[in-house]
Amino acid sequence: MKLQITVLPGDGIGPEVTSHAVAVLKATAEVCGYDFSFQTHAIGGAALEQHGTPLPQRALAACLDSDAVLLGAVGSPKFDDVVGEKRPEAGLLALRQALGGYANLRPVRAYDAVLDCSPLREDMIRGTDILFVRELLGGLYFGQPRALEEDGRSAHNTMRYSVDEVERVAHIAFREAHRRKNHVTSIDKANVLETSQLWRRTVTQVGRLYRDVKLDHVYVDSFAMQLMLTPSRYDVVLTENLFGDILSDEAAVISGSLGMLGSATIGGKVGLYEPVHGSAPDIAGRGLANPLGAIETAAMLLQYSAGLPEEAARVSASVSRVLQRGLVTKDMAGRRLRSISSTETIGQAGVQSVSDLLQMNMAYHAV
Ligand code: IPM
Ligand code: MN
Repeated sequence: MKLQITVLPGDGIGPEVTSHAVAVLKATAEVCGYDFSFQTHAIGGAALEQHGTPLPQRALAACLDSDAVLLGAVGSPKFDDVVGEKRPEAGLLALRQALGGYANLRPVRAYDAVLDCSPLREDMIRGTDILFVRELLGGLYFGQPRALEEDGRSAHNTMRYSVDEVERVAHIAFREAHRRKNHVTSIDKANVLETSQLWRRTVTQVGRLYRDVKLDHVYVDSFAMQLMLTPSRYDVVLTENLFGDILSDEAAVISGSLGMLGSATIGGKVGLYEPVHGSAPDIAGRGLANPLGAIETAAMLLQYSAGLPEEAARVSASVSRVLQRGLVTKDMAGRRLRSISSTETIGQAGVQSVSDLLQMNMAYHAV
């Protein structure tokens, strides 16, 4: 098994959390005898400073030439005044578009060991295991026309979806539901938006091809509330781009911190793997960042680009194990008394746990 991975650490806490995801992948390669190679490039604000553009040609070429892309985060208050294509975020959106992945998978779990780290009641979140399937290449993020008028007095964006765009991401959601609990909840605002009416109609049609999967449609405002009240009722949640961006941050409250969530973007030429959290410039370089979202992201890379579900499951399990040992970063302080560990300590515990679990697995296969 050979895999070429392009690493884009990016800005803020991106580099410090990504290093632990890379360490996890290296440990996996070592224990299982795989050949993973890594090439690192700047993206976002870091690239803007070094090369004058948030997505340098060489970085993009390296990504297109690899088997998977592992990204940290982009964005920095340093570039708040930068507009248009030079914005760090514009570099990320251009990368997403070039790689072509349209389905962004964001799992959200309530981990038993840290239920008290959520402000939500433990009995309400226990057992929650949701997979958000967020459409990533359409809607307001990419719709044309878009502009801030020259006089600065008005601005517009366009929300646009085609049947093809909805169908392809819906198929991914139903397929994922097949591997889970056979339940898809599709989110829209069909009482107001035409794009949502098209979305609902198209998802319903695709759903007819998956007879064993239960399909519900819920308005986004209502869902935002239900997600806090009865999160364990959901399995796969299918959303358009902006709704998915907002709801996945909200859902992070169930896991205890945004720092816990990883993501995979699939369906394109090359898979793109990024934690859900941003660059968190306020805590960058202080050993406070939570590396577990990045480690979960590494697990998703193993699952979707390497085709190694067993190894992926071990990496995910290592996240639970670290938490079971009472090890947390500051964002997961919780109501129970725990000592707070640094990014480095948690990351190393994660890597150690991955090695241990994979070695046990290998020994099991050897007998
Ligand atoms: C995310 C981020 C990005 C998005 C930003 C940084 C462009 O918030 O991945 O959720 O809005 O998609
Ligand atoms: Mn977001």
